[in-house]
Amino acid sequence: MATLREQLSERLAAALAACGFPDAEAAVSPSSDERFGDYQSNVAMVLGKRVRTNPRGLAEKILTELDVDGIAEPPEIAGAGFLNFRITEGVLVGFLEAMRSGERLGTSAVTPRTILLDFSSPNVAKPMHVGHIRSTILGDCLARVARFLGHHVITDNHIGDWGTQFGKVIHGWKHLLDEEALTKNPIAEMARLYREVNAREAANPAVAKTVREELVKLQSGDPENLAIWKRCVALSWTEFQKLYDLLDIRFDERLGESAYHEALAPLCRRLEETGLAEASEGALCVFFRDIPELAERPAIVRKADGGFLYATTDLATIEYRVARWNPDEVWYVVGAPQGLHFQQIFEVARRMGVSANLRHIPFGSILGADRKIMKTRSGENIGLGEVLEEALERAEKIVAEKNPSLESGERTRIARMLGVGAVKYAELSQHRMTDYVFSWDKMLAFQGNTAPYLQNACVRIHSIFRKAGEERPGQIALRTPPERALGIKLARYPESLPLVLEDFRPNLLANYLYELAEHFHAFYEACPVLKADPGERASRLALCELTVRVLTHGLGLLGIEVPERM
Ligand code: ARG
Repeated sequence: MATLREQLSERLAAALAACGFPDAEAAVSPSSDERFGDYQSNVAMVLGKRVRTNPRGLAEKILTELDVDGIAEPPEIAGAGFLNFRITEGVLVGFLEAMRSGERLGTSAVTPRTILLDFSSPNVAKPMHVGHIRSTILGDCLARVARFLGHHVITDNHIGDWGTQFGKVIHGWKHLLDEEALTKNPIAEMARLYREVNAREAANPAVAKTVREELVKLQSGDPENLAIWKRCVALSWTEFQKLYDLLDIRFDERLGESAYHEALAPLCRRLEETGLAEASEGALCVFFRDIPELAERPAIVRKADGGFLYATTDLATIEYRVARWNPDEVWYVVGAPQGLHFQQIFEVARRMGVSANLRHIPFGSILGADRKIMKTRSGENIGLGEVLEEALERAEKIVAEKNPSLESGERTRIARMLGVGAVKYAELSQHRMTDYVFSWDKMLAFQGNTAPYLQNACVRIHSIFRKAGEERPGQIALRTPPERALGIKLARYPESLPLVLEDFRPNLLANYLYELAEHFHAFYEACPVLKADPGERASRLALCELTVRVLTHGLGLLGIEVPERM
């Protein structure tokens, strides 16, 4: 089903063609001010500039060709040449009723693409950092939205399970391991070994030498080192999995860097044979002499000592993914500091003949209250586990205060939805490039642009339905301005979803949901539901029902669950 915006855009395109602009983009957007209608187009201004003519005159000419019958009232021209549209009552109600009766909430069909989504990708035995938190939450949301819109999405967790960190960890394992600490918190103990050896290495060249030797032994298949490595990976996976379960995040593949280990030497040979890579000071490099910003920055695929690098693994990964999934797109949700790395490997992949659209989806950092990159109290990188633990603890307190009569299992269940929801929403309601300040009080507040505010709106509607008892919603009618404003906002839900994928911006969906909840509250304040006359009551219940469905669905795409009560 075409959205209202698409329907208007289609008619506008026909009018533009009739005016001699068959290629012009028939841009229609929600009106910035509802007094001017529901949708507007600035096409006359854009074209006016292009052909150097008065935009108002052009707008008038477009109007003579424009037929919006069966969608909107006769359009009006405003300001410098805006076209304003007001959707007719019947069409709006019809659209909302179609949303209510369908499964897809009014979204139009897309041409399905196969999208491989690389996200989360923490490193084994290295402290997790906030980048992994952001990647995990953002990537999962993009996967959910793309899937719902009809794309074929494969999620792959490319964990760092085969890096130079294992030289340090194995050395630490052999000399410094605290078994008890390992049982209690394996990731913390492995991270401790890593840090401890790192410090000793810096102070003592002899340690650095054994660390290198341990790494070489691992890479050449030494059974003892291989066994330690396997244990590290398994322990980490168990811990990661607990977090993914808590977050309700699933991966279709979990092929870490080690999965490509065997492919690296042959890949380098091929790169060399085909002339894509060349020897340089003992290393094997791909040069980008024709790309000014990369001219001085070749991608090294094999070091002089024969070791392979992050870039080599990523190239082998691309080859595997192309062969296995033939994706139209590969999306990498990885922090902005890796921009150069992706620019380089995408260019090499292109030269290797990969035609898939490879996209780096970068994001900023998370800041502590001091506006510096967030750390734990002891000054270490903060892990997702710590963040979630604290979120659950705080949420449990809030729920207990709000509703002391809940039995404890139910309280924990609701606290999980609230706590996890708050962390996810704090991430997803920001533009991904923003360095946002992490504030527990703000993200767990029931007022403002937060998950609890949205969850609470749903809870409120559920309670209306509990009170309504047997009474069923009827047909939607939009009698008063707050009802109409809520109606038009609801009809925009299917328009908001494709925008999320346009520039990878879940915050557009989050903001949409926030505004919807605000419209709902305005409606609820102005229009009694249960106390209204029977006919009005039935139509207002219908508006409530569609609102809670859209809110719940939209939050679901953000990966956030909604309790029935709290
Ligand atoms: N493990 C890497 C890191 O923590 C992220 C991997 C991202 N994905 C990739 N294909 N390079 O920095």
